[in-house]
Amino acid sequence: MNTKDLRELFTTYFQKNGHAIISSASLIPENDPTVLFTTAGMHPLVPYLMGESHPSGARLTDVQKCIRTGDIDEVGDKWHLTFFEMLGNWSLNDYWKKEAIQWSFEFLTNQLNIPINKLAVTVFEGDSDAPFDSEAYELWKNVGMPEESIFKYNKKENWWGPAGQTGPCGPDTEMFYITDVEKCSPECQPSCSCGKYVEIWNDVFMEYFKDKEGKYNKAERHNVDTGMGLERTVAILGSMSDVYQVDTMWPIVEKIEEISGKKYLESDEITKSMRIIADHLRATVMIMGDNRGVGPSNIDQGYVVRKLIRRAIRHGRKLGIEQNFCKEISQVVLNIFGEVYVEIEKNKQVVFDLLEKEEEKFKKTLEQGLKEFAKMSSDNKITGKEAFNLFTTYGFPLEMTQELAIEGGMDFDIREFEEEFKKHQDLSRSGAEQKFKGGLADTSIETTRLHTATHLLHAALRKVLGDHVEQKGSNITAERLRFDFSHPDKMTDEQKKQVEDLVNSAIVNKYPVSFQEMTVDEAKEKGAIGLFEDRYADKVKVYIVGDTNQKPNADANSETFSMEICGGPHVENTKELGEFKIKKEEASSAGIRRIKAILQQKTT
Ligand code: SER
Repeated sequence: MNTKDLRELFTTYFQKNGHAIISSASLIPENDPTVLFTTAGMHPLVPYLMGESHPSGARLTDVQKCIRTGDIDEVGDKWHLTFFEMLGNWSLNDYWKKEAIQWSFEFLTNQLNIPINKLAVTVFEGDSDAPFDSEAYELWKNVGMPEESIFKYNKKENWWGPAGQTGPCGPDTEMFYITDVEKCSPECQPSCSCGKYVEIWNDVFMEYFKDKEGKYNKAERHNVDTGMGLERTVAILGSMSDVYQVDTMWPIVEKIEEISGKKYLESDEITKSMRIIADHLRATVMIMGDNRGVGPSNIDQGYVVRKLIRRAIRHGRKLGIEQNFCKEISQVVLNIFGEVYVEIEKNKQVVFDLLEKEEEKFKKTLEQGLKEFAKMSSDNKITGKEAFNLFTTYGFPLEMTQELAIEGGMDFDIREFEEEFKKHQDLSRSGAEQKFKGGLADTSIETTRLHTATHLLHAALRKVLGDHVEQKGSNITAERLRFDFSHPDKMTDEQKKQVEDLVNSAIVNKYPVSFQEMTVDEAKEKGAIGLFEDRYADKVKVYIVGDTNQKPNADANSETFSMEICGGPHVENTKELGEFKIKKEEASSAGIRRIKAILQQKTT
């Protein structure tokens, strides 16, 4: 079975069981400043897990593009990936544990034909926050899992969420495939990472809410959130020894073999480098080719992209590849995913251009770093401070310094480097590194207000600057909104004032905020704005500020101020917002401007 078969089998199975198939959301989360990337299928669904109604109903299924930056350093082993696809099914306060476990069991044993003796499952054993999940335990027994294949673990193993500080969470039950790998010890269990047991699916029962005090309160809603790793499952079904042999990865490995003249599995070192190149460039193409794609830079997602590309190039060098190779590899990634995720085919030229530029740039970095290294090492040693300077001033990677020092038989004190590095980290601990940890969308009242203000701003910008204004990114914290949009020029003070005045007029006019569910075509027909990226949904949610019967138009007095495709949540009336103020207008990238704005004291 290949990835295409499994995507279809999974989603149609759940469709037959009353689930609506929805499209993968962007890899770059919208309105969630706490994470850089979408890390799980549930992530874009947070507002609905928290109670917003979903236009496609209470049972959903999809294949979600995901990035996990926490796993970057593990990449190179058999199972960890930076970019992966997650199959999932959800109950939004609808069905509960019985159905979820029955369907999981039936899908694994009937649809995928996995023999029961190749499966093990785990359930939550209970602690002072929440009791043993006896319901899940009994349900597994009832469907036919032998008791010796059901393991009980604590919160560390069998609890999911909240991804951030607060939010929905609960006990989970994980499903493992028992591989033919030898047990590492007679006591080896699913919790062991030796490779005997490979986790393929996780059903989370979101029946708790962790609050700011760290207390787990029983939630009012019961949601089911499940996630199955597509690549892992295809690999184990095909008796493959690692995820790199699945069809969305193997052609990349083959290309690396061709370019390097080396063979996969030839040696541990070669295999590791090939895996890192394949994984990192695959992830890079998916991030850059996304609808909200981001190129290499020194902050946030761009920082991750840069790290991925540079690591891939470094490992290319290890394999003896001297020439540029990133574009050639990215073409293979596009061939693999172009039909599944049409956006990357659409954005391919941007992907090629960005990659070529970054590869050239890094080459220069390397050349310059090598020269500096030669100067610094004329005394036949490299101090930690020198290595740190190479790293911060020239972007020269530590691993390269280490390699060169070893090659030249020089002394190199890595501890000194680490001390320098730590000092530096403590000073600049912010931005990307912080956000690697991940979190849930913040649905506090402050962010909800700013979310509605973002819609008003978007509409006002179009009224003042013109219809070429399109949203290119949005990021909201409790303190401010940040909005990126297409517009070629710096805004004049007068334009900024006009936009502020328009937004404030909408606030003073106390417009109601409501939503309607309609088809994408109807939304377009009505003149709604927003990303029309849903490929499956019959219906989308359209948030309307002001009169719901009129189209928005360029007339500032129009009673329909804004109409935008969006999942919510929003305030009920613009009077809840306070005074809108633009704090900054600046360039974000070529042809894209960025506004930072706040809401001052509440008016009610
Ligand atoms: N959110 C859960 C996970 O990531 C299930 O999808 O494992």
